[in-house]
Amino acid sequence: MLIDGQARRSCVTAAGDVGDRAITTVEGLAQGDVLDAVQQAWIEENVPQCGYCQSGQIISAVALLARRPAPTDDDIDAVMSANLCRCGTYPRIRKAIVRAATLARTPGPGGTP
Ligand code: FES
Repeated sequence: MLIDGQARRSCVTAAGDVGDRAITTVEGLAQGDVLDAVQQAWIEENVPQCGYCQSGQIISAVALLARRPAPTDDDIDAVMSANLCRCGTYPRIRKAIVRAATLARTPGPGGTP
């Protein structure tokens, strides 16, 4: 989940410790029927395999792009290596983040309005 835009592991974060800071889960990323650029890129790059890790991967990618709108491969690897994917979807994750960075800079669905 995101707490005030920063990725945090929900499994080790008590809701009572969050206070009045904003919590965003992967379900809250879309604006109505318009997906977040990262969600759209995940679909276009067909990232998930079993799906188990994907909520955390997407949230980490959203937080990364908020800090670095045009991340390098090293930026992506440094952040995303903290999220394990037993299915080995890392190459597709990297491609999706690069795509999301482009989508976020493009007006229309999946990008900024
Ligand atoms: S998609 Fe299966 S663990 Fe990541």
